[in-house]
Amino acid sequence: MQRLVSSLSKIRSELSLPGDKSISHRALIFNAIAEGKSKISGLEKGLDVMATIDCLNQFGAIVDTTNLDKGYVSINDGGILAFNQPQRDLDAKNSGTTIRLMTGILASRPFPTIIDGDDSLRRRPMQRIIEPISLMGGSVVGSNSEDFPPLKIEGKSLHGIEYSLPVPSAQVKSCVILAGLFADSQSIIHQPVFSRDHTETMLSNMGANIEIIGNSITVNKSILRSVDMKIPGDVSAAAFWIVAALCHPDAEIVVKNIGINKSRTGFLEILKNMGADITILNKHMMSGEMVGDIKARSSTLKGVEISGSIIPNIIDEIPVLALAACFATGKTSIRDASELRFKESDRINGIVIELEKLGSEIVEHKDGMTIYGGKKLKGVNCHSHQDHRLAMMLGIAGILCEGNLVVEGAEFSEISYPKFWEDLYGLGSF
Ligand code: S3P
Repeated sequence: MQRLVSSLSKIRSELSLPGDKSISHRALIFNAIAEGKSKISGLEKGLDVMATIDCLNQFGAIVDTTNLDKGYVSINDGGILAFNQPQRDLDAKNSGTTIRLMTGILASRPFPTIIDGDDSLRRRPMQRIIEPISLMGGSVVGSNSEDFPPLKIEGKSLHGIEYSLPVPSAQVKSCVILAGLFADSQSIIHQPVFSRDHTETMLSNMGANIEIIGNSITVNKSILRSVDMKIPGDVSAAAFWIVAALCHPDAEIVVKNIGINKSRTGFLEILKNMGADITILNKHMMSGEMVGDIKARSSTLKGVEISGSIIPNIIDEIPVLALAACFATGKTSIRDASELRFKESDRINGIVIELEKLGSEIVEHKDGMTIYGGKKLKGVNCHSHQDHRLAMMLGIAGILCEGNLVVEGAEFSEISYPKFWEDLYGLGSF
């Protein structure tokens, strides 16, 4: 599907965004394996989260979606023991979080499961979860070079491990923590740098025997208690509107009730270092996570160097940060980000190709890119590379560039933000 976007002369807007995608997956999966009924409201309704619901419901009637349009789902009280052998292979579709977290719990079930995904997921590396699960005594086998979905999971008794994650990935960390909940001995997981900690926070709130000291997590066999939850607004979705406001000459956008967990807000710090006018108002707690309203206004930005331990914290915001760098004066370099090549698309290559088409001066590196800001961007025909974050970054580019910009493959925004285009067109008259 194509979307046509053109520039706006003035933006004043207040937006309520979809629930956080990472927290939505976890709220569903953790409550499904917990004892007791639960109600989850404010769930993100994109295709990835729907894939998690569909996978869970292959084990029986676990998630009741009757009231999804009213804003909530209910989860039954059977817990992990009520999971039956699925009648068909699970389909995680485009969702890395679904396949990696589900594998963590399925590794110890007393039945075999196959979990697959779409063409993009079939290209994403799974050795990173196969290795620790195998070390715990589990059996997960990928296809082809043994590294890609579909994954064949044999249910086995697991034992705890002490494991240093080779990649700074919250999905891999969460997979091992979840497997550790059902292992017969303690697991200790060391992460190379601190990645998003929604798993640790939510499991602690659900009564798991888990302890976090610095970058290490200790987890013991646990029985979880279900908890009703309200999902905070998605900070990664908020990043698009924040950059739109900062780079536009006459804009103010407020995004309401956004999750501002410190393991997700590195991009706000980077933007502030670039000179951004950003304020956070009405801070309060929601389901164990800090939330607030984020106000962003037109700003004069300057280039910065981005590398090292902040990268896992900003990994999903790099596409839109690269766009912001095009509107900054001077050079911005983004390095140590080779993980971006293993996302829904090769995002380093996709960002460089598309921003170059718009007139940006940008150099691709193996582990990132360098952007020489301040060049005039002009709307042309662009492509999402079948990646939600690139589709949305290009939509925002459209309101900032001269002329008309066409986004091909615009429908990929539905992976995480079904109302993205409606919200974008709602900013003004096109
Ligand atoms: C996620 C973790 C990140 C992120 C993804 C969601 C999660 O992936 O890119 O969009 O929910 O844990 P990695 O953990 O593989 O870096």
